[in-house]
Amino acid sequence: MLVNAKEMLVKAKAGKYAVGQFNINNLEWTKAVLETAQELSSPVILGVSAGAGKYMCGFKTVAAMVDAMVDSLGITVPVALHLDHGTYEDCYKCIEAGFSSIMFDGSHYPIEENIAKTKELVDVCAQKGLSLEAEVGAIGGEEDGVVGMGECANPDECKMIADLGVTMLAAGIGNIHGKYPANWAGLSFETLDAIQQKTGDMPLVLHGGTGIPADMIKKAISLGVAKINVNTECQIAFTAAVRKYIEEGKDLQGKGFDPRKLLAPGTQAIKDTVKEKMELFGSVNKA
Ligand code: 13P
Repeated sequence: MLVNAKEMLVKAKAGKYAVGQFNINNLEWTKAVLETAQELSSPVILGVSAGAGKYMCGFKTVAAMVDAMVDSLGITVPVALHLDHGTYEDCYKCIEAGFSSIMFDGSHYPIEENIAKTKELVDVCAQKGLSLEAEVGAIGGEEDGVVGMGECANPDECKMIADLGVTMLAAGIGNIHGKYPANWAGLSFETLDAIQQKTGDMPLVLHGGTGIPADMIKKAISLGVAKINVNTECQIAFTAAVRKYIEEGKDLQGKGFDPRKLLAPGTQAIKDTVKEKMELFGSVNKA
């Protein structure tokens, strides 16, 4: 059964570890993440971006697939199905589709509008039993070939959004999506510390988990990060493993062309990546 992310994140914040959000792209991805969480007895959050949702034939298809897979794989660890960086409209689509958690990314709105829309969604999620992630301070990344450096959120604005009653708060601390450029300045722990001081027990979310060095991850967790999002790293691992399979000519041997065989090394690579992250984040045996 799917659960919302509240309980797992409150426990993570109190226990000084983080729950991983792993973005899913297809059936193999979902299976790999769920099986690893079960094997390691770790809570897990499956992230679905608007693009990935569209690719998988819509949020309803995703919710139905995840729900059925949790059941047929006999998954007993807590699993939240979460919309990643949702627009206002997509939040309502996912609530309707049966997601257990949503992120409303209002970081690009003026703070007053971010507050008004977030507040409305806080009330809707409370009624329906979903968890809600809000964002302050845009998280950079590659858009049209230009890599944005990632803003640092204003701690007072973080407090305003946290006080609305959201479940978890994503705040920009110099993190970006995708690979980090060679001249990246690193995470701003000063900002993170100031945000945690203002927001207290609120579980903080670190986006752009790919490529952040282990010592920075650990320090971020010690300063209140309780959820870490990883997407690109699983994609890189998956594609490298499938590339190796083809480069070794395995698709040309016997029935090596069978897509179940072709995608197996990629699926295993996702499992290995998820395992490594869950161990680093400290969520193993916390289900
Ligand atoms: P990466 O793709 O950099 O791991 O970021 C994932 C993320 O933050 C999804 O919201």
